[in-house]
Amino acid sequence: MGRRSVSARFSTPRSVRHPPEKIVAWQVLSNEIRACVLCSLHQTRTQAVVYRGTLAPTVLFVGEAPGVAEDLAGIPFVGRSGQRLDVAIGQVGLTVDEFGVLNLLKCHPPKNRFDRAAERACRPYLDRQIAFLGPKVLVPLGSHAFHALAPEGPPILTAAGQPYPQEGPSLFPLIHPAAAMRSRRLAERWDRDVVALGRWLRGRTE
Ligand code: URA
Repeated sequence: MGRRSVSARFSTPRSVRHPPEKIVAWQVLSNEIRACVLCSLHQTRTQAVVYRGTLAPTVLFVGEAPGVAEDLAGIPFVGRSGQRLDVAIGQVGLTVDEFGVLNLLKCHPPKNRFDRAAERACRPYLDRQIAFLGPKVLVPLGSHAFHALAPEGPPILTAAGQPYPQEGPSLFPLIHPAAAMRSRRLAERWDRDVVALGRWLRGRTE
């Protein structure tokens, strides 16, 4: 990976030029999130974690909440889960101009305990981010993200690895990359489902 810093590796790609007013509108929303004090997590965070990726992603990966590494870097999925996710993104053939990564919760919950009050407070930010970015495909990572986007959906282990039919952008859930590190069975499941995502994405464009 060379000597580039985490922020250099994960900053918004420069190969796509976005209109200045789009960049400004995104910055306004991002700054609003960074200044948020709507729930108690603002008291313990280092900083809010907003987004990484292009401002016009085809595929948007939706995680649960920043971990310790993300809280320190201010960038989603830069820790061990992020490394696994980035390998998968490479395997499905997405370039930096085609994807984005964000979380349901914008602030790290202490002990990584998913916080429902924070989820409710953050939800309008998620909806505004998705509306702004306009992805064709949403890839929720894990149960919390999947059920935030498909409240009536079946358990994540039933849904993962195939498109889930619903209105709006297509939904293709995966298990959480951290779950894939918990057992060999889940690691194999992750690998299989990533292959299925790649095949499905290619089928959409061929
Ligand atoms: N897990 C998540 O769900 N999101 C991150 O940003 C990091 C780990």
